Formats: sequence, C-alpha cells, structure tokens
Amino acid sequence: EKGTYPHYMLKEIDEQPAVLRKIIQAYQDENGKLSIDQETLEAINRADRIYVIAAGTSYHAGLVGKEYFEKLAGVPTEVHISSEFGYNMPLLSEKPLFVFISQSGETADSRQVLVKIKELGYPSLTVTNVPGSTLSREADHTVLLHAGPEIAVASTKAYTAQVAVLAILAALAAGEKGNEIGFDLVQELGIAANAVQTMIVRKEEMEGLSFDFLELSRNAFFIGRGLDYFVSLEGALKLKEISYIQAEGFAGGELKHGTIALIEEGTPVFALATQEAVSPNIRGNVKEVGARGAKSCIISMEGIEEEGDRIVIPAVHPMLTPLVSVIPLQLISYYAALHRGCDVDKPRNLAKSVTVE
Ligand code: F6R
Repeated sequence: EKGTYPHYMLKEIDEQPAVLRKIIQAYQDENGKLSIDQETLEAINRADRIYVIAAGTSYHAGLVGKEYFEKLAGVPTEVHISSEFGYNMPLLSEKPLFVFISQSGETADSRQVLVKIKELGYPSLTVTNVPGSTLSREADHTVLLHAGPEIAVASTKAYTAQVAVLAILAALAAGEKGNEIGFDLVQELGIAANAVQTMIVRKEEMEGLSFDFLELSRNAFFIGRGLDYFVSLEGALKLKEISYIQAEGFAGGELKHGTIALIEEGTPVFALATQEAVSPNIRGNVKEVGARGAKSCIISMEGIEEEGDRIVIPAVHPMLTPLVSVIPLQLISYYAALHRGCDVDKPRNLAKSVTVE
C-alpha cells in the first residue's frame, strides 16, 4: 500500500535507506561478517569469468557490478543485454558463471538466455527481488534483493539493492580468494545508507532543480566517466521512461565524437563528477558544453566538490557512489514527470515485468 504517498515511486525512493540496511543485515552472519550460502559462493569461485545478463535498469546495475567483480574480486566480468545475447553470443571462457540480474525474475529476454545456457550445461545464479520467480526457480542459485515489492514501473529501490548485493557478492568472492578489498564493506554500506537518507530529505531542492533544468526542455543529457557513466545511463533511462523527455546518457569522452552537435542554448546537461580521478575530465566536458550554451547541473561529492556544483552528495566510499548519486536523478525524474502531468507509476507503453521477448 502506498499509504500517504501520492505515488509508489516516491514511496519506493524513500524506502532505499531501509532497504540498504536490510540487505546489510540479511548478508551478515552472527559475528557481523558478510556471508551467503556456501554453494553459491563456491559457484562464484569456480568461475573463470562472469557473464552478467540483464535488461534496462538491471543492466545498468550489472555494469556497476562488473566494476565490483573485477576491481574487488579480480574476476573478469562481461555484462550483456539479455535480448542481444541470444543472437550475439560471445566466445565463452572455459568455466563461465551466468549471473542473471532481474528485479521481477520474469523478464522473458533474460529467461531465453537462461534456457539456452542451461542446455549448454553452464551454471547460473539469479539475483532477484522475487523469491520463487521463474528466473529464480530455473537457475542453480538465487541471491535475493530484500527490497520488498516494487510496484512503480520505474525501478528505483531494486537498482540500489542490486548494486549493494553485487558489492557484497564481489567482496565475498574476494575474501574466498584471499584478496583484501581494502575497506570494511559493511561499514561503508552503512555510511552509504545514511547518505541516501540525507539525499531523500532534500526533495524540495530536487524539485526546484527539476523545474529549473527541465521545465521547458524537450531533451536532456547525462554524462559521466567510469562508475559515473553507468549512473548517467540510469539517470537518462529514468527520465525518459516517466517524463517522456528525450534523454541520453553517455561517457563524457564521447561528447566530442558526435553528441556535442546536439547542444544548443539552454540544453540541460547533468554531469556526474563523484570520481576523483576523472572529475577534472568531466568538468572539462562541462566547460565544453557550457561554451555552446548548455545549462549544466554538476553532481559531485563532499571532499571533491567545487563552487557552483548544484548537487553535492555526502562523502561515501568511491566505489559506492552509484548508490547515492542515483537518488537525485530519481527525484529529478519524478518531479519532471509530476509537473508534466504524467502517470508516474504507470508510464505509457510500459509494463512492470516484460514477459514477452
Ligand atoms: C526501468 C525498468 C526496466 C527494468 C527491465 C528489467 O525503470 O524498470 O528497465 O529494469 O525491464 O526488468 P527486471 O529487472 O524485472 O528483469
């Protein structure tokens, strides 16, 4: 039930700190150490390469997950769009593990891949919010998101839950391999949950920014580099699906290879700059688009912020910024849709779970 909330989407955005805390609890043993069932862990550890298969927002979470598996656990990882994988199967490694990320666990495009790789005899793991869902029943292993039912068509809390659970899986895999990840993930996830809390309290400010940047626009751009690039893809998807504003997320470095031609006087550009190493580059991109008339909203982080940044998220571990930087983007999309009179929870032409290929 959405209770006093005008929309499920807003309720689900608000639930994110609690969901993160629930996940931290669910994947801790009695000694406070991260843990999952041994069989799932062994399946991950047997793999010489992980193939993440997902669609839409879950695909965007998968891109973040690749960073975790590779940087924390040292497991080479590829992320594939489910609907493409069937026709475009890459050469596989010797011991692949297929990881299906799906909020609903019912996405037909992903299931089609699961059926195929099972025929080939490969092991599978589903990361889903719905116990007993098709992808969960048919895969060898299941890891749950514990996000509670997500009703709004636009995925919000499932995304942050997916990112958190993938970080946990990667940290566990690292531990098994004797790799030090170099930080206390339980503690850092707790800090991120608090930062998410801080961001959801700033609704009025986000509503104001949404109005300032999007009231009169037909289009919007989201740019980032590294992890911020993956979040920019998610920000663009959220905006287009609920407000029908044409939006594109792309890597900052790609601007000069074509997209910059679209920048006009007043074009809104949301620039994510939470990654210290590439922050100067993304700020350079903001200057380039600014010189052509774009109106930029920089989203940075405490510690590396600069004057004029419109949104500064609280400091969190640099690998966990997607959990926090996505919140203002979710809220800005929500208010853009609201002010345009769109049906926020049930955008046109879309279904919550896509059970056709
Ligand atoms: C976007 C959205 C969709 C889903 C996609 C996959 O907000 O909700 O892009 O992420 O249809 O759905 P699941 O995760 O259920 O497989």
